[in-house]
Amino acid sequence: MPSIVDTVLNPSPAIKTHPIWFMRQAGRYLPEYRALRQSSASFLDFCFNPELSVTATLQPIERFGFDAAIIFSDILVIPYALGQHVTFVAGEGPKLGGVSHPDDFRKLATKLDRERLVTVYSALRAVRAALPAETGLIGFCGMPWTLLLYMCEGGSPGDAVKTRRWCYQEPERMRALLSLLENAVIEHALLQLEAGADTIQLFDSWAGLCPALLLEDYVIGCCARISRAVKERYPAARIIAFPRGIGMGLTAILALDDVDAVSLDTSTPLHQVVPLLPLGKALQGNLDPQALVVGGKVLTDAVAAILESSKTIPHIFNLGHGIVPETPIEHVTAVIEQVRAFKES
Ligand code: CP3
Repeated sequence: MPSIVDTVLNPSPAIKTHPIWFMRQAGRYLPEYRALRQSSASFLDFCFNPELSVTATLQPIERFGFDAAIIFSDILVIPYALGQHVTFVAGEGPKLGGVSHPDDFRKLATKLDRERLVTVYSALRAVRAALPAETGLIGFCGMPWTLLLYMCEGGSPGDAVKTRRWCYQEPERMRALLSLLENAVIEHALLQLEAGADTIQLFDSWAGLCPALLLEDYVIGCCARISRAVKERYPAARIIAFPRGIGMGLTAILALDDVDAVSLDTSTPLHQVVPLLPLGKALQGNLDPQALVVGGKVLTDAVAAILESSKTIPHIFNLGHGIVPETPIEHVTAVIEQVRAFKES
């Protein structure tokens, strides 16, 4: 099955299209997701129930006909499969088991417990079997730096004060933890490809919190090594990097041999990145999820600007970050119609 990235890199027939999917397209803005979510009190139990996760993955495909599905799971399944305690508290976000010093991570496993993730892979197989042949299937991982933040801060990272201090105070221990996460991410990505994903999106949602001194290794280097390891094993797999907030580091990510597409965050001016895009690569993004909430002319103008800026390059239409629960369904439908009706002038 072609990756959504291939549909823009090797378009056939040669008509310019902007395929479309949305980050967090399965989720609370959908009434059918909210209803299904009632089936399980715990979010992780929901993620690890293959029947529920398959249904949640397919809901946005059935409703909107997006060009790719993204498997319903979470980036925090990796810390969980390394033995850290992970829960999701309604209205408060994720909570991860108490860590008061980097030494506490000694209690973690050094390898992923694959048993804890088997349902993710069986769900991928079932989704692939149920998807229309032309719809892509995206697997994903949180990147080591972003996972490190959740694991050290015990939840959403705020200013990442604890993690940044530990990176300076305990550099070896933190570097070792990063390596362990890097291996876990590679393993999880490979297993998702084996189970039927054609694309892996690498979420470095908090790349923007990485101190400049560490960026080269902790964000860019990780992305280089992980994408290399994935391509070595699955040369046909496609990789989308999402280094949110990376700023000047974006040029280094664009230059990575094994990254096929770069997903731009909401604050990056797409038209300024277009001239920097190396041949044979695609950009993805970057509609503001809040413009999608507001709708009307604000939304049509924002969509038109993205389509106009990206008309000369391989481009996948997406948001600059995840869709938010307040998003009206009709706004999603309107964007899809506008994107599909767009003809190069
Ligand atoms: O549709 C999809 O995109 C697939 C599923 C998906 C989820 N999380 C489901 C989810 C994906 C790709 C993610 C990625 C994810 N998870 C990221 C990276 C993307 C980003 O937003 O930056 C991050 C940082 C997380 C961690 C996470 N998971 C947080 C901070 C939260 C709480 C905030 C929130 O949105 O509720 C979650 C919970 C979560 N993950 C929900 C969903 C649908 C909501 C929980 C619920 O339905 O009860």
